[in-house]
Amino acid sequence: MHHPVDHDELEHGLDAAALWLLQAERVAVLTGAGVSAESGLATFRGPDGLWEGHPVEQVATPEAFRRDPQMVWRFYHGRRAALRMVEPNPGHRALAELETLFPASHLTLITQNVDGLHQAAGSGRVLEVHGTLRQVRCEACAETSDAGLLPLPELPTCGSCGGLLRPAVVWFGEMLPQDAWWQAESAAWDCDCFLVVGTSALVYPAAGLIDLARSGNSRIVEVNPDRTPASPRVDLRLRGPAGKVLPALVQRLRTG
Ligand code: OAD
Repeated sequence: MHHPVDHDELEHGLDAAALWLLQAERVAVLTGAGVSAESGLATFRGPDGLWEGHPVEQVATPEAFRRDPQMVWRFYHGRRAALRMVEPNPGHRALAELETLFPASHLTLITQNVDGLHQAAGSGRVLEVHGTLRQVRCEACAETSDAGLLPLPELPTCGSCGGLLRPAVVWFGEMLPQDAWWQAESAAWDCDCFLVVGTSALVYPAAGLIDLARSGNSRIVEVNPDRTPASPRVDLRLRGPAGKVLPALVQRLRTG
């Protein structure tokens, strides 16, 4: 159940957030599954969440893949198929537009999402800290390759060495892609305004970027229809769906 949106409070919040963004030299944005919810993709937690139907330990750990690669691949084939049918929503597009309002590399978009919808919306520089469903990696030779979104064999194998391929996403208990993660940390630490959009802020280390931004003295703005464990630690909460709140925010920046 989402909390009802208080329009007056939201309007004031949007004004304040727009001002902070206008004053900011550097901005970082952290997104989670909520930003893609209005495109029709399920989030992870909650009654209809992906982890309800598919417990994490069965489909998103290296142990699960070793035990039953077929079952794990079935889950990811399904998620890849879902991506063929969805498009970016106004929230993704607003973030792509936000990027154009800052000098190159002054806005960093960090996403926990593996759906590629930020790029599809036109965001040029996206740090995918949990990997991407569009790539596969060989369990044997570690070669990573683009698989696009076309259907893959039930148990896909590596073109170079014949080893078993896995989705190039981060599973529980695994390290985050180092390069993307270091850039994310540095952007969170260095920014003047940090937007936290559509994430339950439960999964670390990604959620730790919020604290990092806080220690770097950034203003923190949360965009989420619901409260999260991060809510008490942010400076401003914009209660509403990303597809409504973000376009309204960017509209204010456009008009100065
Ligand atoms: P969650 O499913 O945990 O949280 C989704 C958040 O989006 C919740 O706080 C919702 O209130 C919010 N939300 C729902 N609809 C929204 C909307 N229209 N606009 C804005 N917010 C909305 O998803 P994540 O926080 O992304 O990791 O989950 C973090 C990580 O946990 C994922 O990257 C994944 C998962 O396990 C891995 O697989 C490693």
